[in-house]
Amino acid sequence: MAKNTRHMTQRLAADREGLATAAAILRAGGLVAFPTETVYGLGADAVNPQAVAGIYKAKGRPSFNPLIAHVADMDQARRECAFSPVAERLAEAFWPGPLTLVLPLAEHASVCDLARAGLPSLGLRMPDHEVAREIIAASGRPIAAPSANRSGHVSPATSAHVLADLDGRIDAVLEGGPCAVGLESTIVAVLDAHPRLLRPGGVPRAEIELLIGDPLLEGGGGARPLAPGLLASHYAPCASLRLNAEKLEPGEAGLDFGGRFSGTPQISGFRQMILDLSPSGDLTEAAANLFSHLRALDACGADRIAAASIPAVGLGEAINDRLRRAAAPRP
Ligand code: TXA
Ligand code: MG
Repeated sequence: MAKNTRHMTQRLAADREGLATAAAILRAGGLVAFPTETVYGLGADAVNPQAVAGIYKAKGRPSFNPLIAHVADMDQARRECAFSPVAERLAEAFWPGPLTLVLPLAEHASVCDLARAGLPSLGLRMPDHEVAREIIAASGRPIAAPSANRSGHVSPATSAHVLADLDGRIDAVLEGGPCAVGLESTIVAVLDAHPRLLRPGGVPRAEIELLIGDPLLEGGGGARPLAPGLLASHYAPCASLRLNAEKLEPGEAGLDFGGRFSGTPQISGFRQMILDLSPSGDLTEAAANLFSHLRALDACGADRIAAASIPAVGLGEAINDRLRRAAAPRP
């Protein structure tokens, strides 16, 4: 399974047979991309360092990035991490769902060092997607899974996006339709009395602050970034990206929101591609369309994508975060 060269990526249906095949591949140390409510994940047995190494290899990912371990239920979560009372409340309110909790490792945790990049903490998430929880449960171990894209590319919201990046590099992909949320999980570290927001995502900050009754602190706090995977240009498409555009310039493709570019005059003989994240200005719909639209605009061949401004409320915080990363200068 976990061979050096992979020739065939199996397409598996999310039925009983497909799930059993996926679980067997995972147990044998192979790589399976699977749907979650946020984005498709590239899964491997989180206990098996060789399997985890396969993830870094397939993605071409810098190996200092710790991975999120996905669990099917609370019993499995508690075997890996120590839950403080605040962590318990967050898990109870938002799991299964698009929230990752970075927690202290439990004494007899099974997730290997490589999956944690050597950190004494672990990012844990229980996905709100039946197919995801079923293969985790069927494999009988926590599943390490970053987004199923080549490192630096846009995250995959469909199995076709996964195959565009990873066909031939992974053992299988489970077909599960488009992802409902479309943005990665919100990451909150609960390592002391003050929960910290490490990455905005599918659960809006305000919902978390309402539950804990305090504002979330920002970022890692210490000298070492707490979420080292958050490279500035993590989500880069090939075309460059211009943010907060009020109108389109000639030659640009448009990533619109709420029909802001709809008055753009057509230059004769030149078709400008415009995709609207949500014509009605709905941030949930915009989040679900973000990565698909970025991929489609990138594929249309324009040198630059102009993005309309997105309100910075609710899911808008996470959408703006991903757009800023996509626009950042490449390393
Ligand atoms: O929605 C999601 O979270 C998706 C799906 C597949 O679950 N996964 C995902 O994984 O976005 P990835 O690997 O692309 O992002 C994981 C982030 C990285 O920025 C990493 O640095 C951070 O989680 N992370 C993981 N474990 C950590 C830890 N112990 N301490 C700090 N940050 C951690
Ligand atoms: Mg990613």
